[in-house]
Amino acid sequence: MIEYRKAKLSDAEEILTLINYFAEKGLMLPRTRSTLYEGIREFVVAVDDDKIIGTGSLHIIWNDLAEIRALAVDHNYHGQGVGRKIVDILLEEAIALQCPKLFTLTYQVDFFEHIGFRLVDKETMPHKVWKECINCIKFPNCDENAMILNLR
Ligand SMILES: CC(C)(COP(=O)(O)OP(=O)(O)OC[C@H]1O[C@@H](n2cnc3c(N)ncnc32)[C@H](O)[C@@H]1OP(=O)(O)O)[C@@H](O)C(=O)NCCC(=O)NCCS
Repeated sequence: MIEYRKAKLSDAEEILTLINYFAEKGLMLPRTRSTLYEGIREFVVAVDDDKIIGTGSLHIIWNDLAEIRALAVDHNYHGQGVGRKIVDILLEEAIALQCPKLFTLTYQVDFFEHIGFRLVDKETMPHKVWKECINCIKFPNCDENAMILNLR
């Protein structure tokens, strides 16, 4: 049975492997060990038989905005509700923090629309959102989609 829980320090290597597998395919931003350890408390993991098979994180941007980041599910587990469950847990965290709005930058528009996110013009997002983007190989030609979900 798949277990969902907050990440531990000992999960870091497996989380990195999962994220960087999809990053190499150009589907998401790569992470370094350093940024992962700094942000490890933001991460949720899905675990099957002691193996990390999914992950995702909630990153607070400001008093009214948080980002769903680093969402990745092992390809052997795609289409089984793991990604949805991870997003649901992150939504609950955002609600508990009384955060009114979530956004994500993604190529997976259909997946996030399914969950209730809607596409917005990237230009309408606050500048603070783009802080990490200077580390992206695509910067400044970002072709990801900005999507938001109002929680109120
Ligand atoms: C995007 C991703 C996280 C989805 O995870 P998943 O576990 O396969 O998705 P789920 O099984 O939870 O799907 C939830 C719902 O979205 C739908 N869905 C999933 N992926 C979809 C896609 N690419 N397009 C359209 N619908 C999709 C499912 O059919 C499901 O619908 P249902 O609730 O009616 O059954 C996964 O495909 C992945 O890791 N992709 C590679 C990394 C990536 O692109 N991450 C996103 C970075 S922002």
